[in-house]
Amino acid sequence: MSARIAVYPGSFDPITNGHLNIIERATCLFDQVVVAVANNSAKRPAFSADERMDMVRASVAGLPGVSVDSFEGLLVDYLRRIGAKVVIRGLRAMSDFEYEFQIAHINRRLAGEVDSIFMMTSEEYFYVSSSIVREVAALGGNLSGLVPPAVMQKLHERHPRAP
Ligand code: COA
Repeated sequence: MSARIAVYPGSFDPITNGHLNIIERATCLFDQVVVAVANNSAKRPAFSADERMDMVRASVAGLPGVSVDSFEGLLVDYLRRIGAKVVIRGLRAMSDFEYEFQIAHINRRLAGEVDSIFMMTSEEYFYVSSSIVREVAALGGNLSGLVPPAVMQKLHERHPRAP
């Protein structure tokens, strides 16, 4: 049987403990989990692609079966390139559903072999998002417990007055 590979795509601007929670749980379901940092997202990222990759790499170091990559262009083209057929996405609240529903369907229309698996984000991270994390850091709030240490350090460098 071939290895079960799943791709967890996102902007990861920056990665949070909510993302990490999904990645850790996905390692129990798949042989390989590829965290794929989107390089051409419609969003204007606060961190460069290299910075986002570095923070993801540092945060997943030591997790078995997890690798980090970046991609440009269509997600389904990337999946085909690496021979993966499963996309993992985290769902936090109903508000995520509509967008995720749309993306999952367009991906399946573009590549019929691709399936999306949705995992519920743990309740302690339901309200966390990358932009909320950036805003709290910029305003000097405490982010302990919400982001991995490498992200905390990066945010401190950018906003030295954060505790
Ligand atoms: N914990 C914490 N936050 C989470 C989360 C979790 N488990 N799951 C999602 N989020 C947050 C992110 O922090 C982010 O917050 P923000 O809006 O404040 O930045 C938000 O939810 C969504 O981010 P993310 O999950 O990274 O998705 P995205 O919308 O940034 O990225 C892509 C979506 C990159 C996967 C998608 O646009 C894509 O595939 N692009 C390539 C082009 C393509 O193929 N498009 C599809 C066909 S049109």
